[in-house]
Amino acid sequence: RPGSFPPGPRAFPIVGNLFTVDYNRTHESLTQVTDVKKIDHSKCHRLTNGTLAERYGDVYSLRMGQTWIVVLNRFDVLKEALVDQGDVLADRPNLPLLQDISQGLGVIFSNGKIWKQQRRFALSTLKHFGFGKKSLKPVILEEFSYCAKEFKSHKGKPFDPHLILNNAVSNIICSLVFGHRFEYGDEKFMELMSLPLFCNTFIIIYLKCLWLYLCTYRSSVKDFIRVEVKEHKHNWDPSDNRDYIDCYLSEIQMNKGQADDTFDEENLVVCVFDLFLAGSETTSTTLRWAFLYMVKYPEIQAKVQAEIDKVVGTSRQPSMEDRADLPYTDAVIHEIQRMSNIVPLSLPHVTTRDIRLGGYTIPKGVTIIPNLTSVLFDKNEWETPDAFNPGHFLNPEGKFVKRAAFIPFSAGKRVCLGENLARMELFLFFTSLMQHFTFSMPAGVKPVMDFRFGITLSPLPYEVCLTSR
Ligand code: HEM
Repeated sequence: RPGSFPPGPRAFPIVGNLFTVDYNRTHESLTQVTDVKKIDHSKCHRLTNGTLAERYGDVYSLRMGQTWIVVLNRFDVLKEALVDQGDVLADRPNLPLLQDISQGLGVIFSNGKIWKQQRRFALSTLKHFGFGKKSLKPVILEEFSYCAKEFKSHKGKPFDPHLILNNAVSNIICSLVFGHRFEYGDEKFMELMSLPLFCNTFIIIYLKCLWLYLCTYRSSVKDFIRVEVKEHKHNWDPSDNRDYIDCYLSEIQMNKGQADDTFDEENLVVCVFDLFLAGSETTSTTLRWAFLYMVKYPEIQAKVQAEIDKVVGTSRQPSMEDRADLPYTDAVIHEIQRMSNIVPLSLPHVTTRDIRLGGYTIPKGVTIIPNLTSVLFDKNEWETPDAFNPGHFLNPEGKFVKRAAFIPFSAGKRVCLGENLARMELFLFFTSLMQHFTFSMPAGVKPVMDFRFGITLSPLPYEVCLTSR
């Protein structure tokens, strides 16, 4: 490392820091937390000499094989990097595996002109369908009623809610992009949902061993999407865009002949793939954590139910307009997102020119990992960072308060494109669930708050009982 480059542990020839990182609890081994043992995700442990952030500070470096990466910790550093100097960090690194999956197209792994145009289009189309004329609200609430029917069919007996929740949340993306939903259990649909988000970012950076699996998965999903695009083209009416694919077909036509045009069918397929990749597992994993937190804290569950009963009642479905009158419920949803920390290391970025951060110089071309865990559990930002405490989002009068350090969707130019949709889904699904069901663990079973680390942090499989209220 040159003198002004961020410090880090000794990197060995060829392997670099392969053995420095704990692959089961990567985000914890990278983070300085108050007392890891107290975090609700039990069984945490410290590395013998302290975590990397404890040893090297908020900005430090690691070498994964031949790739240098810099890990950024804490709110001030992440804000300075992603927001204040956001232009320098707007790109994704050219990591072989990610390039193989996306081929530089779509939104998540693209850069430059393609990323700018595809992201702008995706954002405005999501806004149109999410909050505009063709609102997704009724779609979400309708999907909830299918989901509730499935839950009720278990008659209060223990079951694993994973697949039903995945089906339900993926169906919202299906309604957005394809204009229709799938029956739960549909074989093709199940294939679409087996998203590879269990992969560890570090392993992706390091090894190409997942290449075959990911490429096979990608091509089967892409074939599935291509069939939908073909059907859309067949009965497409440009004066009535029914869904994302229709809007995209219009965009292709509008941009034809323009010098800078990046709108074509290949980009359409990858964009749709990206919306599934980023938009299904994330929201459904958050809901799976929500179930666990509610059974672990029945008194909080009861308080949420009482607030919903008072404001919404039992005869109508909740709406987004209710949110302002449900401060405690809103605070609980935020606390679930903070504690479940489902994208613990965000997605990798890359420096597009030399940048000064935290007193160090990071040259162009270095992979950057924004460590969201270090912000969501920072003792300087949260009164009781390691405990589930909805009070983090409430003032003494019980009103909801926003917190700057609440960044589960990351920040800056690459901030989650689906943030507004995800928030709407979480609010409508969670309040509807609490309105209709009481959650408990099967007799004699305690909730296990441990997780599986990948791009997302997901709870271990569990069974839960849902009793109709
Ligand atoms: C990116 C979190 C739901 C679409 C991201 C990133 C995070 C994130 C941390 C990386 C940002 C960065 O690189 O700095 C979440 C969480 C969700 C969620 C916590 C739910 C609870 C969704 C949904 C959609 C979506 C519902 C789409 C419908 C995307 C896309 C990107 C992204 C397309 C890539 C943006 C880009 O590279 O420009 N998300 N997300 N996400 N998310 Fe989400």
